[in-house]
Amino acid sequence: MKKIISLILASLLTLALTACGAKETPTQDAPVPAPTEAAAETPAPAETPAAPVENTAAEPQQTAEGGVLVAYFSATGTTKGVAERLASAVGGDLYEIVPAEPYSDADLNWNDRESRSTKEQNDKSARPGIASETLDLSGYATIYVGFPIWWGEEPRILDTFVESYDFSGKTMIPFCTSGGSGIGNSGRNMEQLTSGATWLDGKRFGGSVSEDELRAWADGLK
Ligand SMILES: Cc1cc2nc3c(=O)[nH]c(=O)nc-3n(C[C@H](O)[C@H](O)[C@H](O)COP(=O)(O)O)c2cc1C
Repeated sequence: MKKIISLILASLLTLALTACGAKETPTQDAPVPAPTEAAAETPAPAETPAAPVENTAAEPQQTAEGGVLVAYFSATGTTKGVAERLASAVGGDLYEIVPAEPYSDADLNWNDRESRSTKEQNDKSARPGIASETLDLSGYATIYVGFPIWWGEEPRILDTFVESYDFSGKTMIPFCTSGGSGIGNSGRNMEQLTSGATWLDGKRFGGSVSEDELRAWADGLK
């Protein structure tokens, strides 16, 4: 009987020692298998829909209504340059008012009483056509309107422009370039052709006005 009990105990001891040996941890330097190309290309199972990822990136958010637009007409490039620097200074979008019929040098001859520009400026009801694509104003709260002075005021194509849109609720800021004349009644003329917009006093600039000067002017309007 003692022999049988000793045999059973010996067997149990052997079993216990074998089990402990199996729990041994893998060695530290066991190689980690690199993912195979096939595994990397394996698409996620179709039935597992991807959870929506919250965009936490700190990208600037486009405000729906607070945008700035710099719209301008320029026959010989001076106002265009000022408009570009202004748009850069205020972080605004640019929009060129392009005449449907371009102005030739003869059209711009202010010494000729019969030139196109002289005749247009002498006719308050003249409305030269615009070829540029139609504007979507919904994102803009502030609109700078730039032009050269012709015979002391805004070229008639500006009148076409302001009559073409509903600017109600917008802040309109005229600016111009000239050979020396001030902005005169240009802003008031255009204001009378719109309704519901707030027109600020405009300003005349020389063609070489700097971006910093334009920024300082724009900041002073706030
Ligand atoms: C038809 C015409 C009329 C102009 N009338 C005036 C004027 O009354 N006073 C003035 O100072 N400059 C006048 N100018 C000069 C322009 O205002 C000036 O050259 C302006 O900077 C041109 O701008 P732009 O290159 O954007 O067209 C006139 C120019 C043209 C072509």
